[in-house]
Amino acid sequence: MAAFPNLSDLLVNHQDDVERILFTEDEIRAGLERLAARVAACYGQEPFTVVSVLKGSCVFVADLIRRIPGPLELAFAATSSYAAGTEPGRLELLLCPDEREIEGRRLLLVDDILDTGRTLAALRGELLARGAAEVRSCVFLDKPSRRSLLFEPDFRCFEVGDVFVVGYGLDFRGRYRNLPFVAALKAHAFAQQA
Ligand code: XMP
Repeated sequence: MAAFPNLSDLLVNHQDDVERILFTEDEIRAGLERLAARVAACYGQEPFTVVSVLKGSCVFVADLIRRIPGPLELAFAATSSYAAGTEPGRLELLLCPDEREIEGRRLLLVDDILDTGRTLAALRGELLARGAAEVRSCVFLDKPSRRSLLFEPDFRCFEVGDVFVVGYGLDFRGRYRNLPFVAALKAHAFAQQA
């Protein structure tokens, strides 16, 4: 039976593509503790539903919800904002929680990264239009320099500059989500997979 690769194999497989690490595993862990404490303090014992935006937020949301002790539920949404590369395409709603998960509920939209703001602004509008009582947002990374519309997250773990990043759920053409840290890629990695 084939063995799963261990962490050092994973790093060897990807190390030629990584230019620099922006957030290490330890930094992510510490950032999550701070963020989860703020989210937990905001909701206290009030029930709310975390709406995880697929696929990029899957790693972040799994780590975040396990640090929040209050009564929360989990739902999923998906849009197609980045079809294949690093520039935004047409925004389409691919998956939305069903109406019982939305109507009258307090929702916390959780995404991997807030870039132009189009995805979360559109999802927030859609969920409110479908009857949500409240929609807050929480992002792992915030790239404020790229914002093309007025949208500020209620919670953010880290701020990043205008660099395309991968790892910890974030991908380039479907790869690198399994890196346990956040990294910038070398130019050749973009070119190879074009
Ligand atoms: P908007 O522009 O709608 O974008 O705020 C949010 C979505 O864009 C993707 N995105 C990235 N994905 N590295 C990635 O892997 C990046 O640096 C990056 N910047 C934006 C991401 O899918 C996010 O949900």
